[in-house]
Amino acid sequence: MKNRLEHPIFKILSETADDNGMEIYVIGGYVRDLLLHRTSKDIDIVVKGSGIKMAELTAKRLGGLNVNVFPKFGTAMLRYKGVEVEFVGARKESYRADSRKPIVEEGSLEDDQKRRDFTINALAISLNKATYGKLIDPFNGEKHLEERLIITPLEPGITFSDDPLRMMRAIRFASQLNFHIDPLTFQAIADNKERIKIVSIERIMDEFNKIMLSPEPSRGISLMDDSGLLKIVFPELTDLKGVETVDKIRHKDNFLHTLTVLDTVALYSGDLWLRWAALLHDIGKPATKRYIQGQGWTFYGHNHVGERLTAKIFKRLKLPQNEKMRYVQKLVSLHMRPIVLSEEEVTDSAVRRLLFDAGDDIDDLMTLAEADITSKNEEKVRRFLKNFKIVRRKLKEVEEKDSVRNFQPPIRGEEIISTFNLPPGPIVGEIKNAIKEAILDGIIENSYETARTYMFEITKQMGINRMDNNN
Ligand code: CTP
Repeated sequence: MKNRLEHPIFKILSETADDNGMEIYVIGGYVRDLLLHRTSKDIDIVVKGSGIKMAELTAKRLGGLNVNVFPKFGTAMLRYKGVEVEFVGARKESYRADSRKPIVEEGSLEDDQKRRDFTINALAISLNKATYGKLIDPFNGEKHLEERLIITPLEPGITFSDDPLRMMRAIRFASQLNFHIDPLTFQAIADNKERIKIVSIERIMDEFNKIMLSPEPSRGISLMDDSGLLKIVFPELTDLKGVETVDKIRHKDNFLHTLTVLDTVALYSGDLWLRWAALLHDIGKPATKRYIQGQGWTFYGHNHVGERLTAKIFKRLKLPQNEKMRYVQKLVSLHMRPIVLSEEEVTDSAVRRLLFDAGDDIDDLMTLAEADITSKNEEKVRRFLKNFKIVRRKLKEVEEKDSVRNFQPPIRGEEIISTFNLPPGPIVGEIKNAIKEAILDGIIENSYETARTYMFEITKQMGINRMDNNN
């Protein structure tokens, strides 16, 4: 292990601890990631005694580095050459039933290791010179890393009831690292699921977003579902579950469909918010589901309901209320447009409208819409994918010709007001809109001169002069 502790901070920590007669270890996620050959910038240090004192001694040795001290938690942190080092004294912890805040007492290294969440996160490496690089692994963490196993060092009910966020962490690690959760550990998540309610939604979402960013997010979401956590944290998703049959016609299970779409999008994009759009694209379906004789199952307007629900969900889950949310809303609202387009004959004007509405998000929208084709009917999928190719080609052609992606109508409202001496009001919007529509329909080209000529034509037809006189 010695030669893998490459960062210069380790040698400094080792010397500082030895000079001051302190026991020192690197512990937790850094050791796990080292054994998994993943790089990590967060180093957790445990000492026998005071973590704050050790941090201060290290900072002094480094020429007076700045230390952030958190006396309430007995921890301290410093930054050095691209890493963040957090110091804490080895401790025993016990928790009260109604809170995540522990009662802390000084303890041995093993006390400290056993109060950690999983055996793979309880590994420590000694940094003192005599034992430098020695792995201290009382709970078989190294073996569990090889077996790709998430298991708690203590009886899992204790570990989870101590800190219920760990239930989300277990699932997040399983999804992120493609590990499996030990059956008893998993059962304890199911048994303790209600305790997730004492954890702040921000922390839960932090883990959820790590699940969303994992290679196959459906793994984590399915585990949340199987344990019962999903219904508590995100009931809108579990509402998508189930299949109904009327007159022998069944609709697809929208939960499973959503997970497939999400995993497919994840193959093509690491963008968190595009993945969120995949997760929420059909969220409006349960509320709009109707069986109509002769038509079968319908979900009219589910994209618009989905757009509204997205805002509600983002608010409740304390996700950003900014352009990220608006981006997800936009994709949810437009997600069927490319497919509808590919079903019809693809006209230039329909493509131009799609480009106008999607703007710079057109490529993401196409990724989502293409992933949305999950029919079991292979012939149907082939046909759609072929038509999608045509839509993509047309998008390119129209974009090159008309550049409508970031289109702004060339005539502004003020110009209409001053040219016709009109009061501001709906009529101005009507004229502006008519010009925009004409450009999008390909009746006139996207230039100022043509748009101005067109403005005079339509205002004449609208009798604007006469209205002018009346005013
Ligand atoms: N830990 C814990 N219980 C928690 C959070 C953390 O026992 N609820 C312990 C684990 O030993 C963990 C270490 O604290 O390895 C550091 O936690 P953190 O930095 O949050 O996570 P990492 O395990 O380092 O993983 P990542 O960096 O992927 O978040």
